[in-house]
Amino acid sequence: MTTTLVVGATGMTGRPLVEQLLCENHKVRVVVRSSLKLSAKVLENPNTTVIEASVLDLTDEEMAEHVKDCDAVVSCLGHVMDFNGMFGEPKKLCTDATRRLCDAIEKNSPRKPTKFILMNTVGVLNPDLEEKRTWFERQLLTLLRHTLPPHTDNETAAEHLHQNVGKENKHIEWCSVRPDSLIDAEVSPYEIKESPSTGILTGRPTTRSNVAHFMTELIENAELWSTWKFRMPVIMNSE
Ligand SMILES: NC(=O)c1ccc[n+]([C@@H]2O[C@H](COP(=O)([O-])OP(=O)(O)OC[C@H]3O[C@@H](n4cnc5c(N)ncnc54)[C@H](OP(=O)(O)O)[C@@H]3O)[C@@H](O)[C@H]2O)c1
Repeated sequence: MTTTLVVGATGMTGRPLVEQLLCENHKVRVVVRSSLKLSAKVLENPNTTVIEASVLDLTDEEMAEHVKDCDAVVSCLGHVMDFNGMFGEPKKLCTDATRRLCDAIEKNSPRKPTKFILMNTVGVLNPDLEEKRTWFERQLLTLLRHTLPPHTDNETAAEHLHQNVGKENKHIEWCSVRPDSLIDAEVSPYEIKESPSTGILTGRPTTRSNVAHFMTELIENAELWSTWKFRMPVIMNSE
């Protein structure tokens, strides 16, 4: 039975992810600020373990304990979209959680690599590919980088996986999933691409359930994982 740790499990994407993993009979550990935000179905499932804490408040030792024996660790963290969430602390929520969770995995030296899946965004470029942006999009991204801490946080979280964890890591294999705009609806047909095939403002949305579905498949399906590990797949709903 696969064990997955999910941070950001009370979020709009984290919730369907946890439900889908439990439906597929995975063991799921969640780190949540308040378990009141979890459904009774999740709380009552014997395969759920709830760790009630704010993820960045965990000590290094606690983090190492929580990622121990996990086949996968998924971050669906995102800044709360109000003034405090966007401009207050922790400005580096996604980056610091990614860095500390990866450090914790490495500290345990697992016998086989742990999958680390980061929920990222199509607004972050894949440094391995020459992804093209129009002049307007480049200006827009520069503006976001200088004015919106959550955007910079998404960029530096992905950068950490590329530059610090790397692709030769004995203990971690990673995938940074890049949705376009997110909407709420049931699982539906979707497409996975290596790079954005549309402009930033003309992209196709994705349901959060589809993002959760793709992440679940990445955890379960060895072939899909070997296709997308160390890459930054873009997910969008089918037309
Ligand atoms: N919105 C879009 O169109 C879009 C598009 C592409 C990518 N994304 C990215 O997708 C990611 C997730 O999106 P989402 O809509 O599923 O997020 P969401 O519903 O806002 O969920 C965010 C999660 O992060 C947790 N969180 C927030 N601040 C925290 C803190 N200071 N300490 C600990 N946990 C904290 C929340 O916990 P609580 O429940 O306790 O608050 C929640 O579990 C984000 O990184 C976002 O940038 C968004």
